[in-house]
Amino acid sequence: MENITISKIASPESVKQVGLIRLNRPKQLNALSPELMVELGQSLLQLDADEEVGCIIITGNDKAFAAGADIGVMANYGFADVYKQDYITKNWETIQKVRKPVIAAVAGFALGGGCELAMMCDFIIAANNAKFGQPEIKLGIIPGAGGTQRLTRFIGKAKAMEMILTGRMMSADEAERLGLVCRVVALEELLSESLKTAFLIAGNGLLAVMAAKEAVNKSFETSLAEGVMFERRLFHALFATQDQKEGMLAFVEKRAAKFSDS
Ligand code: CAA
Repeated sequence: MENITISKIASPESVKQVGLIRLNRPKQLNALSPELMVELGQSLLQLDADEEVGCIIITGNDKAFAAGADIGVMANYGFADVYKQDYITKNWETIQKVRKPVIAAVAGFALGGGCELAMMCDFIIAANNAKFGQPEIKLGIIPGAGGTQRLTRFIGKAKAMEMILTGRMMSADEAERLGLVCRVVALEELLSESLKTAFLIAGNGLLAVMAAKEAVNKSFETSLAEGVMFERRLFHALFATQDQKEGMLAFVEKRAAKFSDS
């Protein structure tokens, strides 16, 4: 792949590995070209299907997670082009089919489509130099990969409206205060801290992990009562798994659980 590197990281303490996807167009600040988005979708599906992998991380480099959709490419598009090819809808949302957890490890710029991609991940760990923003308004457009919807749900109307109407950038600390990111870490520790978190997830039983992800994501799509019922049924269903037997027995026997994902 030309615009992405993909690797699997092992740890002596973990049975499962962590899939690491690195966006790799450093000269363009990882601008999200159509080719890159195809490669990203393929990498995500590949790691999701890989039984050795328990969690996935998407990251960029120290200067940029991604500075948005590729403006050079978009500058040549007219309405007919974007409408006919179903730009964004066509392949930007493959990540939403991924059932294993995906962490965005963000350093530097996460702007426009870059911020939207990070928000499509399950949670964001930010380096202290991270900058989030939806600057599309300055290009005569609006966010097109979910920014107006997800940012508003994550940080509330007042802040989202201000960010999207002005195009200003938000620091990592402000993003943490507002709940956009789960944690801010030193730049040089971004990858190690993200891996540590990913290995904690990968060490849990995959069935419960996937069910937990599905249940949390359901909360954005349903009423509270429906969401709680969805959670309750998944909770009940997990009592049919070997992992529930093993997890609870291991607790009683005061030892670490050995999950079999069954
Ligand atoms: N698309 C294409 N190329 C980009 C890019 C983008 N989104 N962002 C940066 N680049 C390129 C620059 O053109 C430049 O290339 P050259 O060296 O060939 O000139 C290179 O990356 C380095 O960028 P700068 O010289 O501008 O670096 P800087 O440090 O001075 O500024 C920046 C950094 C503030 C992020 C600035 O590059 C910038 O404002 N980028 C655009 C951000 C943006 O508007 N993103 C939203 C895109 S629209 C979108 O994403 C729609 C959607 O919702 C899906």
